[in-house]
Amino acid sequence: MTQDSQEEQRLLAAARRASEHAYCKYSLFPVGAALLTDDGRQFEGCNIENASYGLSICAERVAIFAAVADGARRIRRIAVSCPKGDPARLNTLMPCGACRQVIAEFATDDLIVYIDGIGAMPFSEILPKPFQL
Ligand code: THU
Repeated sequence: MTQDSQEEQRLLAAARRASEHAYCKYSLFPVGAALLTDDGRQFEGCNIENASYGLSICAERVAIFAAVADGARRIRRIAVSCPKGDPARLNTLMPCGACRQVIAEFATDDLIVYIDGIGAMPFSEILPKPFQL
């Protein structure tokens, strides 16, 4: 196995594990995310919902905010796992648009996204023209 695919498998496994902590009693749709920073640290997150639905937060943003709060600024890899997604409908496995914009804020130029059940894709392919100030 190449070093890249080992990294992919390790991050996907961490994302799947993180999804087990999801607090998703309203949607019953657990999501897990795991990321690697440019200085080699790993952070995980799960979706956390609220009775006031709009206050819910996605797994990707939980992982990113944990990384940033710990001093990280650049993400070079991120894995996302939606175990209740439908493999026949690939969009049910993809990160939402809001998370893509948040990922863009901290992405390295060569950020790769690993989507459980789909594979690896360059971040620039899934959000080609993010908003920037
Ligand atoms: N969700 C995520 O955690 N990440 C995404 O990229 C898509 C959606 C969560 C939000 C909500 O808790 C549940 O999945 C259903 O939308």
